Amino acid sequence: MCGIVAYIGNKNAYPIIVKGLKRLEYRGYDSAGLALLNGDLNIYKIKGKVSQLEAFAADKDLRGSIGIGHTRWATHGEPNDINAHPHLSDNGRLAIIHNGIIENSDSLKKLLTRDGHTFTSETDTEVLVQFIGSVQQKYNLPIEEAVRQALGSVIGAYAIVLIDKEDPTKIVAARKGSPLVVGVGDSEFFLASDATPIVEYTKKMIYLNDEEIVIMDRDNLEIKTIANIPKKPEIQEVELAVDELEKGGYEHFMLKEIYQQGQTIADAMRGRMSHIESWVKMGGMEEYEEKFRKAKRLIIVACGTSWHAGLVAEYLFEDLARVPVEVEYASEFRYRNPILTEEDIVIAISQSGETADTLAALELARSKGALIYGVVNVVGSSISRLTHAGSYIHAGPEIGVASTKAFTGQLSIFTLMALYLANAKGTISRTYFQKLLNELTIIPGKIEEILKQNDQIKYIAAEIKNSNNAIYLGRGFNFPIALEGALKLKEISYIHAEGYPAAEMKHGPIALIDEKMPVIVIATNKNAYEKVVSNVQEIKARKGIVVSIVAKGDEQISRLSDYTIEIPPTEDPLAPLLSVIPLQLLSYHIAVMRQCNVDQPRNLAKSVTVE
Ligand code: G6P
Repeated sequence: MCGIVAYIGNKNAYPIIVKGLKRLEYRGYDSAGLALLNGDLNIYKIKGKVSQLEAFAADKDLRGSIGIGHTRWATHGEPNDINAHPHLSDNGRLAIIHNGIIENSDSLKKLLTRDGHTFTSETDTEVLVQFIGSVQQKYNLPIEEAVRQALGSVIGAYAIVLIDKEDPTKIVAARKGSPLVVGVGDSEFFLASDATPIVEYTKKMIYLNDEEIVIMDRDNLEIKTIANIPKKPEIQEVELAVDELEKGGYEHFMLKEIYQQGQTIADAMRGRMSHIESWVKMGGMEEYEEKFRKAKRLIIVACGTSWHAGLVAEYLFEDLARVPVEVEYASEFRYRNPILTEEDIVIAISQSGETADTLAALELARSKGALIYGVVNVVGSSISRLTHAGSYIHAGPEIGVASTKAFTGQLSIFTLMALYLANAKGTISRTYFQKLLNELTIIPGKIEEILKQNDQIKYIAAEIKNSNNAIYLGRGFNFPIALEGALKLKEISYIHAEGYPAAEMKHGPIALIDEKMPVIVIATNKNAYEKVVSNVQEIKARKGIVVSIVAKGDEQISRLSDYTIEIPPTEDPLAPLLSVIPLQLLSYHIAVMRQCNVDQPRNLAKSVTVE
């Protein structure tokens, strides 16, 4: 969602801002804009991509070593040139960019209108800048004080950055609920929604906390809270290489990320297990081992693909560690007065670590005294800083909006967490524990084998690419993979797709099956294999097109299917790590063939920082 980049220093701000906005394109957006201070305050903004903004700005005055830039994902008001950020106060003095939602913008707007202010856009952001501007004017305040005092009356979530035409040496920014990172350079500072636009200039970052305001000129930076309490800036070194942000020869980030999974799964497991010495160690869990062992229940909260990882985790924890698990959509959990006790452990899963609903669900759980644990990819993100403990998945930046390597990273972590707990509780036999460790070690190699079937998968994609609908079926550990396969297809190819437990087909989806309906059946399980055979027969009896994902050597289901993708056999709890790979590739190829924007699908955002 909305991306923020700002610069203050000795260099020309424009190229830094434009490059930064391109780095943030992956977050999802529909318009872009920037403001530059050089004596004048110049604002350029446009509906569409950053490249369109560049073309629009090409013949304009682009001077200035202070600037703010924004990619907007529309909330209040449609995507158009006027609603794009930056927004200006009506005295022409303050320019603002904003990520988040101002919940009391309607009442603020009424007050401002009564006082004679006029508005050009439909956005809550323009209301905010007018409000800050009115406080500034009324009390004749410097920009930082106007921002601070105004924010005391603002309800909602925001990361904001402002510049003042009449005080052209400063940038002022603040956050509450939406991410904002400061990059500390040599006589220069950067601001961005995450570290990706900044790492090529400096690795020194300050992650702002909620209700903090940062005031910076070229040489100095000061942080205080909205309540006016000074804060000591805590600078962290971020380990992120610029080449991790490039496509590295692949046509799309999504394809690169699919192909990275052998490596990223190995990275997630590195130092956390040894099949030779037969141990699993999860640093985050160790400190709370007793709490985990005694937990009456694990509650997993997440959204999107991460929620599907939570469903796999449910099967893993219940099967291996014999602990009841509830998997909740974070957005539902937080608004239904959930019953929580101190014996519950709440686990949040999030690639970005910034998803607003997941963050809010965790805050609620924390306030009720539950231990909160995070399974997160982005180091230093809001969720990782809120939790008592957690495990990073170490998948590196995931740029494609549709999550792939983060998902298998999450599955790897949950497999290890379940094994760790099963071992601590004594709910798993030594032999099976060892068997799963041996098998986990060779999973990355098996992924490479699956990737070699890319051409076959591409062929199948071409055969079904014109379908309007698709059904995905799986059982047991593969049921969440059916959901994930369907989500991948709809996200990037815009084909309507539904995932179901295979046996549920008879309770509805079977009515949809005819000769035009592709049914993707994930049938690698040893458990309940025969039942899936019957399901496939039922689909064929109604002339559905069966694409099956089977374990190598399978005969029965392959014989019944129109198309088959064979993957290496493995133990059932580890099957999701393999069976999801061909589904990712299938969606990818179908989307490319349908000429969809694979990395930035329409209307979607990578990091959903509003509710
Ligand atoms: C968005 C993304 C999905 C992601 C979901 C949850 O919808 O497009 O790919 O699965 O948010 O994000 P998180 O960062 O919390 O895993």
